[in-house]
Amino acid sequence: MEKREKIYEGKAKQIFALDDEAYLIMVYKDEATAFDGSKKGIIENKGIINNRISCLLFKLLEKEGIETHFIKQLDERQVLVKRLQMLPVEVVLRNVVAGSLAQRLGMEEGRELQIPIIELYYKNDDLHDPMINEYHALAMGWATREQLEEVQRLSLRINQILRDFFAGIGLILVDFKLEFGLYDEQIVLGDEISPDSCRLWDQVSREKLDKDRFRRDLGGEVEAYQEVVRRIEEALG
Ligand code: TMP
Ligand code: ASP
Repeated sequence: MEKREKIYEGKAKQIFALDDEAYLIMVYKDEATAFDGSKKGIIENKGIINNRISCLLFKLLEKEGIETHFIKQLDERQVLVKRLQMLPVEVVLRNVVAGSLAQRLGMEEGRELQIPIIELYYKNDDLHDPMINEYHALAMGWATREQLEEVQRLSLRINQILRDFFAGIGLILVDFKLEFGLYDEQIVLGDEISPDSCRLWDQVSREKLDKDRFRRDLGGEVEAYQEVVRRIEEALG
């Protein structure tokens, strides 16, 4: 397959078309942004680390029976994926109170939730990805009832798999973001799963090993991402 034109450039990735329209190549960059791009920086080798982490986690999910867009890692920064028709909805799963949930409800970070929370956000940078619920998604025609049910079922299953996996390498999966799309009319997991899109805390020290180090100017973001990839590779690599 031959790489063709760049069809999209996001904050952390570029997407290229291929001569075969069923596939895409995602290229991971080192650029980091937060707060809708108002904070910008570089996390050295983040693209390489996130590509590796995401490929390993998608392979794990595939092995557990979850349909994903992942086909194969091409090199350090590039991955070959199925071209999905993305739903304009981001799904956030939460196991522990943190981030915007802590802010919105005026709670301290760190309380374990009694059941996982699923939140939906409308993917729209100009509007800063506003939170929506299932009714909005249905009423706007962004997804059907069946598709939303499948998205939620898969999200909970993915949460279970990833939570158990991370617990096994001494990490708490606090929360994370997923994006789904359609392939042959089936709901399939797309995008990435990495310390950019997850909160991961060390089980013992509760140290943050994710993008919050960058968002909150905590320093040590390179070391944090390296520690996460080291533990994942030791378990799955
Ligand atoms: P939040 O607490 O800021 O709503 O974030 C919840 C989770 O979703 C966190 O693990 C980070 C991830 N996330 C993204 O991947 N992209 C985003 O644009 C936002 C706001 C959050
Ligand atoms: N990635 C988003 C941005 O660039 C938000 C975030 O991860 O905090 O603003």
